[in-house]
Amino acid sequence: MSRETLIDLLYLVSATTFVLALKGLGSPKRARLGNGVAAVGMLVAIVATFFKYVDGHALHHVGLILLAMAIGVIIAVPTARFVKMTAMPQLVAIFNGVGGGAAALVSITEFVHIKSTHPATYVTLEVLLGVLIGTVSFSGSAIAFAKLQELMTGRPVTYPGQQVLNGIFGLGAAVLIVIILVTNSTPLLWVLLGLAFILGIAFVLPIGGADVPVLISLLNSFTGLAVAASGFTLGSNLLIVAGTLVGASGILLTRLMSKAMGRSLANVLFSAFGSNVTASGDTERADGRSVRSGTPEDVGVLLNYSSRVVVIPGYGLAVAQAQHVVRELAEELEAKGIEVFFAIHPVAGRMPGHMNVLLAEANVPYEQLVEMDEANSELQTADVALVVGANDTVNPAAKDDKSSPIYGMPIINADLAENVIFLKRSMRPGFAGIENELLYNPKTMLVFGDAKDTLTKILATVKNG
Ligand code: TAP
Repeated sequence: MSRETLIDLLYLVSATTFVLALKGLGSPKRARLGNGVAAVGMLVAIVATFFKYVDGHALHHVGLILLAMAIGVIIAVPTARFVKMTAMPQLVAIFNGVGGGAAALVSITEFVHIKSTHPATYVTLEVLLGVLIGTVSFSGSAIAFAKLQELMTGRPVTYPGQQVLNGIFGLGAAVLIVIILVTNSTPLLWVLLGLAFILGIAFVLPIGGADVPVLISLLNSFTGLAVAASGFTLGSNLLIVAGTLVGASGILLTRLMSKAMGRSLANVLFSAFGSNVTASGDTERADGRSVRSGTPEDVGVLLNYSSRVVVIPGYGLAVAQAQHVVRELAEELEAKGIEVFFAIHPVAGRMPGHMNVLLAEANVPYEQLVEMDEANSELQTADVALVVGANDTVNPAAKDDKSSPIYGMPIINADLAENVIFLKRSMRPGFAGIENELLYNPKTMLVFGDAKDTLTKILATVKNG
């Protein structure tokens, strides 16, 4: 077997592991294994590449490549290990951005290389697409990171004529690509690079913080396409396959997330959702209704008298890092013969699978994690819906109020339970910035405070009860 055939076979093994890894990542139970399989596949691909002959020559600059890899490992390993669960979306944004930037750099290098070695050769479309898509993904991800890290406002940044201007930038980039293909001009490549950079920023600015995770998934898909374009440029089948897998899975995830929020992708990208905070933040309504607040001890007593409790976790659970104490509470209740399950909304938290990962980390058994539709059919018979740091995902306006920006988003019907308990710190709204009528419902009780502290006190009362 020739060296080339062996390397192609290793690439095939690696591409297959990527497909298997995606399959594994589809379920919380197998996700860790899926990740491991992908890592092994990546290792095989990297090792094989070191033995590859390019145009009859062994790999150049091995020392520099190893140095770059070492720097990458030194930065990435501690960052990924020590990142807080709540900061995971911005970590994904930044990792995705550098992926897109790397793909753009590969395309630029190839362009410069072609022009210096064969000045008469015309560059091909995939090189220019690699520059455009990779750069859009890079600058767009940088803005998404800044929004999520609160380095800039998380609200949509809008100005008159914005979408028209963005359309002009997009059209301008397409026209430039055609001109470069015909003229083979290097200066115009730099213009394309600059325009792509601006386009990425302009595309992301009007998207509100609540929609940024969907956007990141879309930008991730762009990075995949840029990598696939680099694969065509470099003649690497593995990069084509890996890039296409990322591109396709990214777009599927984007669609799934939009669907789970009851909105179209166009609405997510172009409606500047979240520009108006309409929640008053008051404990009393203009119509005289007010919220009923209680103490952790009240909740502990209520739970002790229940036979079925549904915990509905949301973003606040992650902020409070209350996953361990909520698991302890569930165990304590179960030990007393009270049935407990966790109702998981697909977009609870700030990224897909956020709640599953958080609760799995605290060793909550998978059987206790119930998906939204199944949970909804059970809530009618629940004595208590214990809403821990969730808000938008239980807001009945999504069902009842046609004028609400979240109208149509599927929700967990906490309002069907006999008693609804909200654990939150204040009257501040959820990510969508809108009022939640359920807070004023007579069967609802609010316990103000950090979810972890409140749950610890509830647990103490349950234990003593
Ligand atoms: P939210 O509606 O954002 O509500 C979170 C609640 O947690 C807030 O009411 C907040 O109230 C409370 N909270 C924050 N820190 C807390 C703490 N330390 N202790 C107790 N409570 C705390 O969360 P959700 O119900 O999970 O909904 C998710 C939102 O994100 C939806 O709007 C969804 O569309 C959006 N989104 C999600 C995704 C994915 S994939 N998950 C993607 C895009 C958008 P206080 O500040 O008063 O405490």
